[in-house]
Amino acid sequence: MQTELCHRLGLTIPLFAFTRSREVVVAVSRAGGMGVLGVIATDTETLSADLDWIDANIDGKPYGVDVVIPAKHIGGAGGMGNPDDLQKMLPEAHRDFVNGLLERYDVPPLPAEVTTHEALKAWTDAASREQVELALRHPIKLIANALGPPPADIIERCHNQGVLVAALIGSGRHATKQVAAGVDIIVAQGTEAGGHCGEISTFVLVPEVVDAVGDNGAVLAAGGIGSGRQMAAALALGAQGVWTGSIWLTAAESDTAQVLKEKLLTAGSRDTIRSRAISGKPARQLKTAWSEAWESTETPDALPMPLQFMLTAEAVARLHHSAHQGVDNPLLTSPVGQIVGRMNEIRPAAEIVAEMVAECEATLARLGKL
Ligand SMILES: Cc1cc2nc3c(=O)[nH]c(=O)nc-3n(C[C@H](O)[C@H](O)[C@H](O)COP(=O)(O)O)c2cc1C
Repeated sequence: MQTELCHRLGLTIPLFAFTRSREVVVAVSRAGGMGVLGVIATDTETLSADLDWIDANIDGKPYGVDVVIPAKHIGGAGGMGNPDDLQKMLPEAHRDFVNGLLERYDVPPLPAEVTTHEALKAWTDAASREQVELALRHPIKLIANALGPPPADIIERCHNQGVLVAALIGSGRHATKQVAAGVDIIVAQGTEAGGHCGEISTFVLVPEVVDAVGDNGAVLAAGGIGSGRQMAAALALGAQGVWTGSIWLTAAESDTAQVLKEKLLTAGSRDTIRSRAISGKPARQLKTAWSEAWESTETPDALPMPLQFMLTAEAVARLHHSAHQGVDNPLLTSPVGQIVGRMNEIRPAAEIVAEMVAECEATLARLGKL
């Protein structure tokens, strides 16, 4: 099952796992795939500790780090580096709307020691560069960027250190641009995916991107993948592997709050919505009172990125904090894809990997006999 990209990265299976949990990173990499740590909401101190922990536990297996380096800034490149300046740009009507929601649903404030300030900083160019510099001091094999190609100097820094660069895209026309910018791995992410996504389904997007990229890069399929049959289908479409996100939210090791895990376990594949409510860009998330409130015609329009994220970050942090105290607030949501309908059981990440690999092998063998 090893593809050329597996050989380049030292993987035994073509499975990439985006996750915010260092435990899942280690479990997937130790099982032969590649764990990729999402660091958008992580302050520098925690990131440093997490990377040290991964290095100590991963048995030298390859892993990656996923950052969000915004390609465009409000006010020009680097012009709005300061989260305090961004905060001042939030319209009063929007603040009042969010505060009203929190009041209506009785969401407790954060305790004094918990702050969202560091998380907000991660959306600025300077802070995400700091994260990349820190990550490059560890034996990572991959840097992925969520929104557009990373800046040229960062791609060069990575390549000089033998680190491959991946970028997520949701439409075929972005693929050639990314390759021209020096991106090595294009993650073709269909609309089924959790988090930011376009409108094209994985089944249509992947062959489109594979053909556009040709021999100039590797393509991974993402969006709606949670089983070995889907993995085999992605390989059949020409992808060199699969990039997964949602399925790790309900892994035993994941630090998703138990009440949220339970919400995800009972949700069906129709229970997600592509909405601008969290970040200002369309992102697939669990349908809850939060997304419903933002869909209402009386609600102010979502703000452009990164302002919407700045506006909602504290509310989201409050909801997740109370979820960790066991409160299942009707507003509580999470980015998650349509594969949520098949996430019905809490299982260790290694078991999820083993089952996907076994089913993929069996599927490839079955197809070979046709
Ligand atoms: C909870 C959650 C958070 C995500 N956050 C990010 C992120 O910060 N950066 C990123 O590149 N992708 C992010 N994604 C998208 C994943 O990297 C991945 O492309 C997507 O989950 C794949 O589709 P799937 O959810 O159907 O597996 C996120 C996805 C989820 C479910």
